[in-house]
Amino acid sequence: MSDLLDSAVKQLRDGSLVAIPTETVYGLAADAKNLAAVNKVFATKGRPSGHPLIVHIANPVLPTMSSAESQNAWQQVLFDWSRDVSPQALALAQAFWPGPLTIILPKAKNVLSEVTGGQETVGIRCPNHSVTQDLLRLFGGAVVAPSANRFGRISPTTADHVKDEFPDGSVLILDGGACDVGIESTIVDLSRWDTHGAVVLRPGAISKGMIDEVLSKLGLSKDLLAQDGDATQPRVSGSLSAHYAPRTKLVLYDPDCLDSIHVNDCVGKRVAWAHFEKSQDINLSSCSDIQEIVLPASANQLARSLYATLRALDQLNVDVIYFEKLPDSEQWDAIRDRLGRASVGSGA
Ligand code: TXA
Ligand code: MG
Repeated sequence: MSDLLDSAVKQLRDGSLVAIPTETVYGLAADAKNLAAVNKVFATKGRPSGHPLIVHIANPVLPTMSSAESQNAWQQVLFDWSRDVSPQALALAQAFWPGPLTIILPKAKNVLSEVTGGQETVGIRCPNHSVTQDLLRLFGGAVVAPSANRFGRISPTTADHVKDEFPDGSVLILDGGACDVGIESTIVDLSRWDTHGAVVLRPGAISKGMIDEVLSKLGLSKDLLAQDGDATQPRVSGSLSAHYAPRTKLVLYDPDCLDSIHVNDCVGKRVAWAHFEKSQDINLSSCSDIQEIVLPASANQLARSLYATLRALDQLNVDVIYFEKLPDSEQWDAIRDRLGRASVGSGA
């Protein structure tokens, strides 16, 4: 791996792109301070300009550091990117970084406006993957890294998925194995703390409850004056209703309300049916072909395999995918969010 890491560092310094493994999904990385490289990210993904990118930083904390020293280390690295590193931001960094949390803060003056989508805020995250941490340390800078998929499509969670997205070999891919978490980081906006508190813009493995617990233990919690969905919230491309989408039509059905599946719609169709083990049977007798996938029962396991499953279902070349609705509890929120968007954008 060390030769590959050296070439990856060289690519980043030359303004080229490198696909990097993270604990959430693979990212398409470029030097966050190089305008031409950042523009290449938009061109390669087919991502419209104006959609902000997340800045990924190296972990500055050493195992020998005291809590005060590590807080100081986070502060120093964050000051490169934000003009207002609040106690709330430091508390969340200490609690969850490296890890699947992106923190939105007021941007520092010299952050490229192409990175922030022209906004006054910047998204920052310290990813928890040893290969990417080694790369960031050797590179000595930070990278922007959107998910390494074409715009609107399913995020990659293996190096092979990235190859499928960019088959022409133009992107160097660092293979760090399958991503452990499997869905994108939680995004929490702290930039409007005084009026809004901590606002989750995109749900992920770190829940709102976990964030609130850390902040309230430190006496930093805030009564919310506004909830997510506020019209003034910054743009989040993952918040477009159609996103993460398979090409095959994806229908989410409620086993307690089977009206969501119209038997007539199935006549002569090839169908994929993704359901939990204990699920109730659905009447697919009029279909010409049924392929069944049993989903893992735990939210963490389903998150880990979700995008690989959606890709595999897409490759079955069926006419429609029926996917069982997820449980209502908080631990399923992030997966429910991604599946809902995948369904809206599917079949295109
Ligand atoms: O887990 C992740 O966050 C992955 C891995 C590769 O780190 N990255 C990722 O990047 O999901 P991307 O570009 O696919 O999604 C980043 C999201 C976008 O929806 C973007 O709008 C939002 O982060 N974002 C970035 N900066 C922002 C800002 N200043 N304000 C609001 N949203 C922001
Ligand atoms: Mg993405």
